Amino acid sequence: MTTLRAMRWWDLEAAVALERGLFADPWSPETFWSELAGVPDTRHYLVAEDGGAVVGYAGLFATRHQADVQTIAVASAQQGSGLGGVLLEALIAEASRRGCAEVLLEVRVDNMAARRLYERFGFEQISVRRGYYQPGGVDGLVMRLRL
Ligand SMILES: CC(C)(COP(=O)(O)OP(=O)(O)OC[C@H]1O[C@@H](n2cnc3c(N)ncnc32)[C@H](O)[C@@H]1OP(=O)(O)O)[C@@H](O)C(=O)NCCC(=O)NCCS
Repeated sequence: MTTLRAMRWWDLEAAVALERGLFADPWSPETFWSELAGVPDTRHYLVAEDGGAVVGYAGLFATRHQADVQTIAVASAQQGSGLGGVLLEALIAEASRRGCAEVLLEVRVDNMAARRLYERFGFEQISVRRGYYQPGGVDGLVMRLRL
């Protein structure tokens, strides 16, 4: 059974390992440390755990009015079974709880799995960042969900 819980420093090794397998430009351990340093004031980070193993994670940056999905990831073997949706729903619920009016995120234009997930939750494209993702200069879409 997969459960969600707060990400802690001892999850970082597993999160960084997943990150390296899933992203072309993975976050370093230092980036995760600095994100976790913002919990709970401006950050909210979760892991999905299955049989003691971290199989996904997601993080939110929230100010008083606006929240950003900083990262969301599901291990390859678990993708396509709804876990990304469970993580995203938890981030949106936290943004609501904090009184944010909207949630923003950025996604590579060629990341169809992620785009489908965000659209299913009602995110709409509001702008394009040309060549935003390196290496490769792939466009980034900025998407917004009004709460
Ligand atoms: C994006 C991600 C978090 C989605 O997680 P998930 O657990 O697969 O999410 P879901 O099971 O809810 O599926 C989301 C949608 O993508 C589809 N999908 C899942 N894996 C897919 C794949 N490999 N190729 C194409 N579509 C895929 C699902 O069918 C679903 O579409 P639907 O809503 O039309 O049914 C996951 O694919 C992932 O970790 N990707 C790598 C990291 C990443 O790109 N993160 C997002 C950065 S913006």
